[in-house]
Amino acid sequence: MKTFAEEERKFFEGYEIYGSRKHQYARHRAVLDSWRRVNVGTILDVGCGYGDLVPMIQVEFPKFVRYQGVDVTPRCIHKAIATCTDDRCHFQEGTVFDISLVYDAVAAIGIFSKNTDDWEGLVAATIEKMWQQTKRVMSFTTMHPCMWEVPDTDRVCDERQMLSWILELPNVAGFQLQRVDPEYVNIATVYRKC
Ligand SMILES: C[S@@+](CC[C@H](N)C(=O)[O-])C[C@H]1O[C@@H](n2cnc3c(N)ncnc32)[C@H](O)[C@@H]1O
Repeated sequence: MKTFAEEERKFFEGYEIYGSRKHQYARHRAVLDSWRRVNVGTILDVGCGYGDLVPMIQVEFPKFVRYQGVDVTPRCIHKAIATCTDDRCHFQEGTVFDISLVYDAVAAIGIFSKNTDDWEGLVAATIEKMWQQTKRVMSFTTMHPCMWEVPDTDRVCDERQMLSWILELPNVAGFQLQRVDPEYVNIATVYRKC
């Protein structure tokens, strides 16, 4: 079994590629674009990293009232708190399972690429919990195996499986899948019935 420290190291090695400004901009833009038709005032960002989504939220949804970032990696949270001066923004260490408030929109950008012992169970449970924490919409990246050159690619996101989990959620008004090139990362957005 891999330790969290190993996973964390792998994540930070990959961050240079994954976190390149161009690619990150494209992913963030796709998520926020898919929220435009919904009235978004409060936002939960699961796996917020350094809080890099915030500047685009400030531009695209200038009247937002609350942004909550949550991340399992303490150094991300420390840096996000040190960097962000917007008092509508809050950051905490943890996962979506530590969240009790319900938000208009929930994002999870780039969090499902890690291999864990029970990857399928964790992703399904996370998606279901995210759905409980949103009033209107949630978006998450689905990882194409060719993005990460990891040996056990069968543990990396199976998009069809993700879509079947979505279809099993209650009160789904619709969903869309957006391809974000050039990284072959798709973004799934699920809308809740009003
Ligand atoms: C690739 S980074 C993306 C950061 C940010 N979402 C962005 O787009 O800039 C993934 C982040 O998700 C965090 N993470 C991974 N799995 C998580 C989970 N189950 N709950 C909370 N955070 C998680 C990692 O610590 C890391 O900071």
